[in-house]
Amino acid sequence: MADRVLVTGGAGYIGAHACKALARAGFEPVAFDNLSTGWAEAVRFGPLAQGDLTDRASIDAALAEWNPVAVMHFAALSLVGESMKDPGKYWRTNVNGSLNLIEATVAAGIRNFVFSSTCATYGDQDGVVLNEATPQYPINAYGGSKLAIEGILRDFGAAFGLNHVIFRYFNVAGADPEGEVGEQHVPETHLIPIMLEAIEGKRPALTVFGDDYPTRDGTCVRDYVHVSDLVDAHVLGLKWLLDGKGTRAFNLGTGNGFTVREVIDASRAVTNAEVPLVRGARRAGDAVALVSGSERAISELGWEPKRSSLPQMIGDAWRWSKGGAIFGEAGARTCRARGEC
Ligand code: UFG
Repeated sequence: MADRVLVTGGAGYIGAHACKALARAGFEPVAFDNLSTGWAEAVRFGPLAQGDLTDRASIDAALAEWNPVAVMHFAALSLVGESMKDPGKYWRTNVNGSLNLIEATVAAGIRNFVFSSTCATYGDQDGVVLNEATPQYPINAYGGSKLAIEGILRDFGAAFGLNHVIFRYFNVAGADPEGEVGEQHVPETHLIPIMLEAIEGKRPALTVFGDDYPTRDGTCVRDYVHVSDLVDAHVLGLKWLLDGKGTRAFNLGTGNGFTVREVIDASRAVTNAEVPLVRGARRAGDAVALVSGSERAISELGWEPKRSSLPQMIGDAWRWSKGGAIFGEAGARTCRARGEC
């Protein structure tokens, strides 16, 4: 029987791609999700264990039923802008939910834990390339809550031998090249899907949040990484733990920073269309530039990003978006039932 992995947030954008990568690597992914923002239709690669991280009993029940060798923890609130408007919601949900999960994991005797952290834990550091040794000074509640969870893992590692791999993501983009899963947030807030929706006429325009930053064209710089490459790193991180290599943090980005305007320019070649644009104010909580030093993941994990060029990421997202995006009719029914479309 295949080793099982409990994947929190397995019905969400990155979690669903991770389930696909795990299944392909010979594991059985069990998606643990409350379906508040995820999609039952995205759970295609293993069973769904419906539960909520704020309900400890539901976590205990899932761990007892499925007996996984490891936990992969994606479920979280993850919007920088929203976290500045409602910080309490971010601290409460992300930290309490993760603490419940970590305590339940240890109580169940599991000692392998993979955690989705973020480059937002580094904060705004004046254009330096951020590597894993860079001090972390988050500037928004989202990054603050993720850094707190890194601290919980450190302490549970010391106290109970909970081995953990922490991945600090830069900006995740694109969709499964085979079109089985993709990005579907309601409401959408991320740059690339919003840009594509504006091109398709699903929204009037893309608002550029600030063009007076100290960058080469005045817009923010981000390091974009393809979701398929990102989840490949998670499989390598899981194997790292199962091989007994122990606790480690890895950045996941490419080391190439692109401005918002450069992303918009790259979309023209893919879509043959202009992006309708509006100039807007800066968005609270946005760092000027976030660019990864990812040598560690490459040299130690043997990670090889294969699809993380801008045209490839925008192209995969474009095919997914044009294909209807919300998992066909079943997804559309879920969306209507939630009153979201
Ligand atoms: N942007 C716009 N207009 C939009 C949306 C985004 O100009 O409508 C800009 C943002 O201001 C930012 C860039 O595009 O400069 C990227 O913004 P996203 O919202 O796509 O991504 P973020 O950088 O805010 O956040 C993402 C993830 C987080 C992660 C973070 C690290 O959502 O989980 O990257 O930067 F932590």
